[in-house]
Formats: sequence, structure tokens, C-alpha cells
Amino acid sequence: METMYRQIESIIDKDLPLVSNLANVSAILYKMDNLNWAGFYISNGEFLYLGPFQGDVACTVIPFDKGVCGKAFSLKQTLIVDDVNKFEGHIACSSLSKSEIVVPILLNDECVAVIDLDSPIYSRFDDNDKYLLGKIAQLLAPLFIK
Ligand code: SME
Repeated sequence: METMYRQIESIIDKDLPLVSNLANVSAILYKMDNLNWAGFYISNGEFLYLGPFQGDVACTVIPFDKGVCGKAFSLKQTLIVDDVNKFEGHIACSSLSKSEIVVPILLNDECVAVIDLDSPIYSRFDDNDKYLLGKIAQLLAPLFIK
């Protein structure tokens, strides 16, 4: 896990376009055990749109108050969902997904994007994932400075 942080730290380059950095970060995140999707939803100020990801085709637009992603975005808090079927309003992009973690990326206390990971097993994510992904979100936040 620590290795993953260092790997991400070493590949990000603030002089590259955001999409290039996030594309490579999604590839690194996707190597975590037991995932079927890893990627980003990015705010354009009106809604969250699909960013770079690894995994199956996913929904392209998420309103700020919808789904796990919209909720984590609005609350500016990491959400861990042990069983997506029990989360009211969960947006099912893939029937494979059983559990999910969504981590906000905050820039000057504004949520600019979320990291979204889906797993085909229940209760895949814990506080260690929350901590590590939170650190990765902090690492990525400056890339969103316009
Ligand atoms: N399940 C998410 C939607 C995005 S996909 O998982 C890739 C949600 O409820 O916000």
C-alpha cells in the first residue's frame, strides 16, 4: 500500500495535462486486490463527469446529490459502502460491483473530484484504504489548480 503511494508520487508530473496524470493513477489504483473498477469523477461546477478509469464502461454524468459519488462529493467525506445494494440511491454501473469506496479530492476545501473504487466482493474496503486513498487524494489535489 505504501509502495502504491510512492509509485503514484513518482509518476505524477504537474506539467502534464490533468487527464494524463489521472489516467496513469487509475492504472496504478486498479492493481489493488479485488477491484473491478478504479477511476475518477470530476466536477465541472454543475455535475460530476466521468474521468480517466480502468474497468468496464461506466455512467458518464452524476449529479452532485446522487449515488455514492455525489454523496461523498457533497459531504466532502470518504464513504465506504460494504454492500452497494443497501445504499439508497447507489448508481449501479456494473452488476459485478458489491462494495465501493469514494474519496473526495479537496482543493482549498472545495471538492474538485472523487476517487471511486468498486469491488466484486462485499466489505472490500476498510479504514486503511480510507487513510491511504485520502493521502493519495491530497497528493493529487494540486493537479486540479487551473
Ligand atoms: N456506483 C457509483 C457510480 C459510479 S460507478 O461505480 C463506476 C455511485 O453510486 O455513485
